[in-house]
Amino acid sequence: MTRRVRKAVLPVAGLGTRVLPGAKTVPKNLLNVVDRPILSYIVEEGRAAGIEHFVFIVGRGQGAIEDYFDSMPEVEGILEAKGKVDILADVRRDLPQHAGQMSFIRQMAPLGLGHAVWCARDVIGDEPFAVMLPDMLMAANPPALAQAIAAHEKTGGNIVVVEPAPEGEAHKYGIVALDGQQGRLNRMTGMVEKPPPGTEPSNLFISGRYVLTPEIFKVLETQARGAGGEIQLTDGMANLMKTQAFHALEYEGTTYDCGDKIGLLRANVAFALARPDLAQAAREAIQALL
Ligand code: UTP
Repeated sequence: MTRRVRKAVLPVAGLGTRVLPGAKTVPKNLLNVVDRPILSYIVEEGRAAGIEHFVFIVGRGQGAIEDYFDSMPEVEGILEAKGKVDILADVRRDLPQHAGQMSFIRQMAPLGLGHAVWCARDVIGDEPFAVMLPDMLMAANPPALAQAIAAHEKTGGNIVVVEPAPEGEAHKYGIVALDGQQGRLNRMTGMVEKPPPGTEPSNLFISGRYVLTPEIFKVLETQARGAGGEIQLTDGMANLMKTQAFHALEYEGTTYDCGDKIGLLRANVAFALARPDLAQAAREAIQALL
């Protein structure tokens, strides 16, 4: 019997160098996809998967994220008085329903994803938890994190969501090694961050949703710096794999890397085309440009 996954860590403290200068004054996860910030979609996905408490790992200059998830009485009051109920609902949709359902932790230096996750240890405590990389927008039904949690309920232990890397690009990612491949959920035998080209153990990369056991925090505490001089979550998980089971889940859905210029553009186009109220106008606007 596994314990329910109630909390998710959302590390947003990276520098976002690939989307500068946009990410200079606006945290990259607050950039819009169609008409709401990337983070709005991520929190929606988390809630649909049963997450009750979101733990954001933020960096300097990212106070706007906390403000985004707070109420805005002046504007809400004006919208209410004018009867603009649709806009009011949009403004309120991402707010926590109760106090204490969102925590914000400062990562004082961007030392790497492993370090960012470790910063959440006190708030997570002794229970399995999710990690959601907020620049990876995943269009899926059921939502990607729900698929990962269902896999965790089946196998116990740790789950890493993976997908095939584009041809010839596996060396740019964290790549998993599998103990045979049967269906979408397979036991892992290893993982490596940014393997030198030609040494990749598979073409499946770790794409941004995880379910981890709290033992990862002990491992990350003493984790040495790895690729890029950063404390890598992949290295920490590889160490934990010596004592705990890890499964890779090839989820069903489409990923958009919004931390990348073209990925963000693709997400905007795809999500606009998927919106019944905008699809027709979006199609016409795109076609006129071709
Ligand atoms: P990335 O490497 O994709 O994001 O990290 P980045 O560092 O912001 O982007 P570039 O490469 O400079 O453009 C994956 C996730 O981990 C977070 C990032 O915010 C991103 O969501 N992260 C990374 C942290 O929170 N802290 C870190 O020290 C590093």
